[in-house]
Amino acid sequence: MAAKGERIAMLTAYDFPTARVLDEAGIDVLLVGDSLAMVVQGHETTLPVTLDQIIYHAEMVGRAARRALVVVDLPFPEGQLDVGRTLAAGARILKETRCRAVKLEGGSEQAHRIDALVTAGIPVMAHVGLRPQNIHIDGGYRVQRDAERLIADAQAAADAGAFAVLIECVPADIAAQITAAIKVPTIGIGAGSEVSGQVLVTNDLIGLTNGYLPRFVKQYSDVQGVISKAVQDYAQEVKSGEYPGPEHQF
Ligand code: KIV
Ligand code: NA
Repeated sequence: MAAKGERIAMLTAYDFPTARVLDEAGIDVLLVGDSLAMVVQGHETTLPVTLDQIIYHAEMVGRAARRALVVVDLPFPEGQLDVGRTLAAGARILKETRCRAVKLEGGSEQAHRIDALVTAGIPVMAHVGLRPQNIHIDGGYRVQRDAERLIADAQAAADAGAFAVLIECVPADIAAQITAAIKVPTIGIGAGSEVSGQVLVTNDLIGLTNGYLPRFVKQYSDVQGVISKAVQDYAQEVKSGEYPGPEHQF
């Protein structure tokens, strides 16, 4: 798609019905992101979600996807400890789910891991710029502006065999430079428009997230409002006796 100049539309998915809707709507890549920890499990960072939990959700998304490529995040600390553990985690994802690739946070310092995964037959999407798994070192979620380092990270990931590089929270001009510099497609989130594709957390764009939305999110719908209205109408009709009506009874 990138070679044809076609922009890639990627979104997160964590369950079967949502993944089915996204796949049928034409989303190209589904990400079983470790944002699962925050969006679905209610944690404050992405760190708590486990490999077993990610795999449980990847099974659901893998069963739903007919057309989309499904990528699964390597959760903390599967991509931080020894390479053998990273390989074992990647292998479990490919063996136990119908998903076909993993995503690994990091650039230059992860090149040896990307190389090992790809050598083992496990496709890797790299993830540079803001790295949510690094939150306790960075002390917060901030825009990443070190152009030289970011380009070197993306380059190292591509050279190591990553099939794509995700770029998170980077000024648009730097993301454009990265995209021009490397051979594989780039997927941006908060990285402007001069990239090969975009990714967002689905719950953010449909309006089903509690609280803060980063500047780069465009909210296309108010699903929280839709659900809230439906269940309030239901509760009110139960209490008034309007539901169930004769047509709902045997
Ligand atoms: O876990 C996630 O949702 C991500 C984002 C970059 C979309 O990694
Ligand atoms: Na992630």
